[in-house]
Amino acid sequence: MTSTIGIIGSGNIGSALARAFTVAGHSVVIANSRGPASLAPLVTELGERATAGTVEQAAQAGELVVVTIPLGAVASIPSQWLDGRIVIDTNNYYPTRDGQIAELDDESLTTAEYVARHFAGATVVKAFNHIPALAIADHAQPAGTPDRRALMVYGDDAAAVERVSALVDQIGFDAIKGGGLADSWRIQRDTPGYGPRFTATELAIKLAEARRYRDL
Ligand SMILES: NC(=O)c1ccc[n+]([C@@H]2O[C@H](COP(=O)([O-])OP(=O)(O)OC[C@H]3O[C@@H](n4cnc5c(N)ncnc54)[C@H](OP(=O)(O)O)[C@@H]3O)[C@@H](O)[C@H]2O)c1
Repeated sequence: MTSTIGIIGSGNIGSALARAFTVAGHSVVIANSRGPASLAPLVTELGERATAGTVEQAAQAGELVVVTIPLGAVASIPSQWLDGRIVIDTNNYYPTRDGQIAELDDESLTTAEYVARHFAGATVVKAFNHIPALAIADHAQPAGTPDRRALMVYGDDAAAVERVSALVDQIGFDAIKGGGLADSWRIQRDTPGYGPRFTATELAIKLAEARRYRDL
């Protein structure tokens, strides 16, 4: 199944996902902070399945919308634009970039819960936060490839998790359902599973090793 996917953020991850989604046959509407004109070179490179839009247009392009911007900027996106959408949250917390966020500093919220609290009318699914942008193309392999890279998917809505897992699989990775948004701390920044290439078996070991109350 192909669909139109909105992408808010056209940086490392946004452009890598736009490439992967269009190669898989989806259409994308991609946006950034500087406006559609700044995206002309990227959409030319991506081809006819890609369109540049405003953030509002990307938010309303289809049922799936990737939000992939510095976490500190998430609260600046009007949340009602995402009402009723499945928001794919790729974001990680880097205080030096994002500023201090008290609920993340004391780990009373996961980053995904923080994003979901803002987009209260959307269904948030955490995905693509623990793979470096370049690896989205470099590590992709067809379904059934032995020792394929695995990526975690977390969410509180089973149907939305299923939908995003299918997308993860379609663009080249085994999708592992990790539980709800509250469980996604196991793959946040600086946890054992964060970053390197791991198969599903290896990733399960890394998740088990994760510790919640770490030094930031
Ligand atoms: N880099 C990685 O390998 C990686 C891997 C996994 C997850 N992540 C996470 O994914 C997110 C994106 O990372 P990235 O490396 O792709 O970031 P990036 O290269 O710095 O790109 C950020 C994008 O967000 C846009 N943006 C910033 N504020 C915005 C706003 N208020 N409204 C609309 N767009 C806005 C920027 O617009 P302009 O282009 O106009 O400046 C830019 O296109 C981060 O939370 C990061 O921690 C990154």
